Amino acid sequence: MRMFGDFENEIYFDGLRGVVPKLPVDMASLEKKAMAAWPDAIVSYVQGGCGNERTQNSNVTAFHRWGLIPRMMVDCSKRDLSIELFGMKLPSPIFMAPIGVLGICTQDGHGDLAVARAAAKTGVPMIASTLSSDPMEAVAPELGETPGFFQLYTPNDREIAASLVHRAEAAGFKAIVVTLDTWVAGWRPRDLNQANFPQLRGHCLANYFSDPVFRSRLSKPIEQDPPAAVKRWTEIFGASITWNDLPWLRSLTKLPLLLKGICHPDDARRAIDGGVDGIYCSTHGGRQANGGIGCLDLLPGVVQAAGRTPVLFDSGIRSGTDIVTALALGATAVGIGRPYSWGLALDGTNGVVHVIRCLLAEADLLMAIDGYPTISDLKPSALMRVD
Ligand code: FNR
Repeated sequence: MRMFGDFENEIYFDGLRGVVPKLPVDMASLEKKAMAAWPDAIVSYVQGGCGNERTQNSNVTAFHRWGLIPRMMVDCSKRDLSIELFGMKLPSPIFMAPIGVLGICTQDGHGDLAVARAAAKTGVPMIASTLSSDPMEAVAPELGETPGFFQLYTPNDREIAASLVHRAEAAGFKAIVVTLDTWVAGWRPRDLNQANFPQLRGHCLANYFSDPVFRSRLSKPIEQDPPAAVKRWTEIFGASITWNDLPWLRSLTKLPLLLKGICHPDDARRAIDGGVDGIYCSTHGGRQANGGIGCLDLLPGVVQAAGRTPVLFDSGIRSGTDIVTALALGATAVGIGRPYSWGLALDGTNGVVHVIRCLLAEADLLMAIDGYPTISDLKPSALMRVD
């Protein structure tokens, strides 16, 4: 039985032939390399956050206040990191969080397809963003046997929203993730200083431009007047949805429905009462609001309120150790965000696969060495607060 941690022996044995990893295995070095590879506008857009980036930084440093307590004399020769989510068996407890500019993170402009191929190779689900350079119907087949979820930015035109969801169902996505915290863009100084917002330049709008209902809202075909289509997009992009809209959202699909951006226990309870199948606790990587709280500190309250309902988590994951910490605090599955975009920038699909393998190897070996062979062994009591 192959374990994720076997990746380290693979690397060491390759070393005997003089081969070293093509990309760094630690995320800090990988990040530096990606920054050097990207143009300034992409660096700002991907790396930047809201305000003085306090939330973004807190998301990362919140993990530094927890440590896994080593336990010895436990047989960890075999580890099982698989999980079940909405009736699907997944080989590992991670997924790729939706990132709306994957297309322009690669030189060929098809980063969404490259990430979907990485999902196919690793079994790690991709949550495909509404904002993508290739339409969802092109992304879905690249996922192979790995399930993909579709992330919805809810337009203020309900018929367009319904069309996007129904297209995602037809394309074979296995769940719908509605992002709640982005009906308007957060105040992002790095992008504002460059006056750069990629979507306004026509990037990453393929799901809208290929949508029959969106197209029907234009006075001229997109091809004849692209700027008018972009302008129309700005008018329909974001609906400030409320709890009153939840029954409508729920009615759009029979697929599992998740709400992304839930950070308060009361909101988790209300969402579950409203019929959602999963809670997604996230501060959007600190890109949207600069309230200052690291998302990990919000997770335990949300988990407690969610009860048996699965809780997905992202924001601040930078290592395999972080994955283990989030699992121990009750996350059902853990989302990788920026780090996989760095792998994508440096080596396309293989770069994303590399990031996933590194993170899982580190998580697996931590569990092996510290005496926690399965995910169900990871409980809050396995952690010590170390501030
Ligand atoms: C995002 N995120 C995001 N979320 C979402 O629901 N839809 C989207 O289209 C995007 N787009 C997006 C673009 C970029 C460049 C980034 C970095 C992030 C948020 C994402 O899903 C996730 O919540 C954060 O990335 C998690 O934070 P870290 O771990 O990346 O810091």
